Amino acid sequence: MENNCAVILAGGSGRRMKSAIPKVLCNVLGKPMLDWVITACKDSEIDNICVVKGRAAAVLENHMEQKYQDKYQTVLQQDILGTGHAVVQAIPYLKNFVDGNTLVLNGDAPFIDSNTITEALKLHNEQDNAVTLITCEVENPYGYGRIIRNNGLLTKIVEQADCSANETTIHEINTGAYWFKTKDLLETLPKMNANDQGKIHLTQCIEIMLKNKKKVGTFITENSNAALGGGDRRSLLALNDIARNEVILRHLENGVEFVCSEGVVITPDVKIGKDTVIESNVTITGDTKIGENCLISEGCRLVDTKIGNNVTLYSVFSTEAEVEDNVKIGPWVQLRPNTHICKNVKIGDFVEIKNSTIGEKTAIAHLTYVGDSDVGSNVNFGCGVVTVNYNGIDKHRTVIGNNAFIGCNTNLIAPVKVGDYGYTAAGSTITQDVPDGDLAIERSNLGFNRGYGYHKLKIGGEEKQPAYTYDSATNDDDEKRKDSKK
Ligand code: UD1
Ligand code: MG
Repeated sequence: MENNCAVILAGGSGRRMKSAIPKVLCNVLGKPMLDWVITACKDSEIDNICVVKGRAAAVLENHMEQKYQDKYQTVLQQDILGTGHAVVQAIPYLKNFVDGNTLVLNGDAPFIDSNTITEALKLHNEQDNAVTLITCEVENPYGYGRIIRNNGLLTKIVEQADCSANETTIHEINTGAYWFKTKDLLETLPKMNANDQGKIHLTQCIEIMLKNKKKVGTFITENSNAALGGGDRRSLLALNDIARNEVILRHLENGVEFVCSEGVVITPDVKIGKDTVIESNVTITGDTKIGENCLISEGCRLVDTKIGNNVTLYSVFSTEAEVEDNVKIGPWVQLRPNTHICKNVKIGDFVEIKNSTIGEKTAIAHLTYVGDSDVGSNVNFGCGVVTVNYNGIDKHRTVIGNNAFIGCNTNLIAPVKVGDYGYTAAGSTITQDVPDGDLAIERSNLGFNRGYGYHKLKIGGEEKQPAYTYDSATNDDDEKRKDSKK
């Protein structure tokens, strides 16, 4: 659709939203309304997009840069003088596409869909129309422009404020979406006039075109939500509810089980495999993908997270993490960005993991922080382990080998490494590497049972010396540590 383009009207003041950001950037199911509209364009293979910005233009510009790397044009509507005036601002842009068609869309109507857009264009081309207005039948037409027909043909659009008693009973409304022949649009735009309130309405184009004997057609979409707009917080909540239910219905059709739908918020791009169960009060957003046969219990919040098959999550908060198959996590666990949990891992209550890999079959059962760490397979963490990754200036990594045993309340002061089969005794603060198979103990001197060298570790029947012991109250620790390693 090279010669076709879209103009998205996003300049409106949106005062009723009472927000610092432009109305079109308010979220419906975690996605700004404008992005829903742009997605519908992209899904209709329309790549030439011009967004008319107005109030808080800098915020919108920033969004277009961050989200779309400035792929799309924006034009400024300095004074907000109506939908027709908004399209006039895009005239220089439209001149690049004189041979094609222009789609005009409201930036605050997120449920316009690509099927409607493409089918309307088909009809527009078949009928060789100068304009094809997209309309729909709605139960409650209050607030929308009504479609006035004579012998079935569109004669004009009457806005709510101008409706006669009779016209208010009409249920066919203007969705605010139009396909124009760009040439005809460019010819008509300069002919519009401001009304008594100084506004220039785009709907005037229809009347001007009819007067000039241009072909005017309508496409009636079956999507009765196509025109639904978010003008204030109340309507935004209604849009959220509609979108939320539609997403849940789609997952139900794909074999996902919902115990109930209360408090379940799943954003549109999330993917969930069959036989996975979603409990109440669960939020799943962004680019999250969940495999088959998982349990996502109440209280989970998953953002941009990849979950394998047969995974159980009890009250887990996870952002940008990856969890492989057959893992059980929770309750009350946080997985922070760049966390990778390998197969068959078990993670228990009050555990936080950040920027770390946890190897297969490792168990981190209680009250533990693992940050900036590479943990091998089959490791056991006792209760209350902390990888001390930050010294106030720099962050360092902790490396733990396969089959290691990290005793309760161990502090691992990074950078530090515990070797394969390494063992740290409960309550130890480990500041030096623990070689493979060695036991590390650190104890303060309580004046009795100093404990040096008494600790042996049996691995595979073989008795091992402790790696070192440390007594902060004496001056000859180094000697003793050396002794203990003999
Ligand atoms: C418009 C239509 C109405 C239709 C309805 C569908 C007109 C005159 N009326 O009314 O027939 O039923 O959409 O939702 O067109 N905008 C600008 N600049 C402006 C004014 C608006 O960019 O000067 C943008 C807004 O940000 C919004 C869109 O245009 O995204 C629609 O504007 P809005 O004021 O909401 O028009 P409606 O009253 O809904
Ligand atoms: Mg509106």
